Amino acid sequence: MKIIRSPKEMQKICRDFKRRGKSIGFVPTMGYLHRGHLNLVKIAGSKSDVVVVSLFVNPAQFGPREDFHRYPRNFKRDWLLLEKSGCDYLFAPGVRAMYPEGYHTYVNVEKLTGHLEGAVRPGHFKGVTTIVAKLFNLVQPDIAVFGQKDAQQAVVLKKMVDDLNYGIKMIIAPTVRERSGLACSSRNQYLSSEERKQAKVLYQSLQLAKEMIKNGERSVNRLVSKMNKFIDKQPLAEIDYIAVTNAHTLELLNKLKGEVLISLAVRFGKTRLIDNIKTKLRK
Ligand code: PAJ
Repeated sequence: MKIIRSPKEMQKICRDFKRRGKSIGFVPTMGYLHRGHLNLVKIAGSKSDVVVVSLFVNPAQFGPREDFHRYPRNFKRDWLLLEKSGCDYLFAPGVRAMYPEGYHTYVNVEKLTGHLEGAVRPGHFKGVTTIVAKLFNLVQPDIAVFGQKDAQQAVVLKKMVDDLNYGIKMIIAPTVRERSGLACSSRNQYLSSEERKQAKVLYQSLQLAKEMIKNGERSVNRLVSKMNKFIDKQPLAEIDYIAVTNAHTLELLNKLKGEVLISLAVRFGKTRLIDNIKTKLRK
């Protein structure tokens, strides 16, 4: 595996591969890798000739009161994990290389970003779409692999790829979880052992919702109120939101119908966790 720091060099390497007819699979990350990330790398490897993983903690997607400075970083550990996972190029540029003095260009997907995470984290998705657009321009992947864990991010990025005619095949991989059901996340390492125990309530509440739907529940109010009560039993959990939306438009629903995304954000102390499930209703 080669480590590349310079955007220009990354672009040149990828151009050369394309010229030689090789397909490129790409996995963008912010590092502090876990099994969820490594599964994306494996999928990219199974579908392309060359695998590029980027590792860049993107300041543009963090709000002023968010955890950019304290976001977990461990380059050596990530490097070793990627080396064992079939990654060919690790692209890890510095902040100044991606956003030089006087940087002024942003990519923004409208509408979809007004809901859910976008509503509580203003500017977050503008930061995500901008960095991913830049990375796509450097790497020129044939396929890019993202996780369902960040459901709204996946929907927004797919929209960007469609709207801007990137011609990249977007693969959304299922959420990888710990044995307790807690979704793997770089932010899990902020949790104390007690918070971690209680954090499995995110997954459990989603399973409760799934079970209610399976048993015929069609009222969003009743579903959300049950989930609320269930999560509230955990003394350290503070609910940011629980939302039931159309899985494609991300618009809030009153009645459960069609393809539905149930997503939630819950705080444990300073740590904010998100999770979701998607489910298709027949009637
Ligand atoms: P990061 O949080 O590092 O996640 C990188 C990729 O891993 C994303 O596609 C995310 O959805 C996926 N992922 C995270 N946890 C997962 C899990 N438990 N199961 C499956 N996939 C999981 O998301 C970002 O970084 C950034 O916003 C980025 C797209 C890199 C732009 O900066």
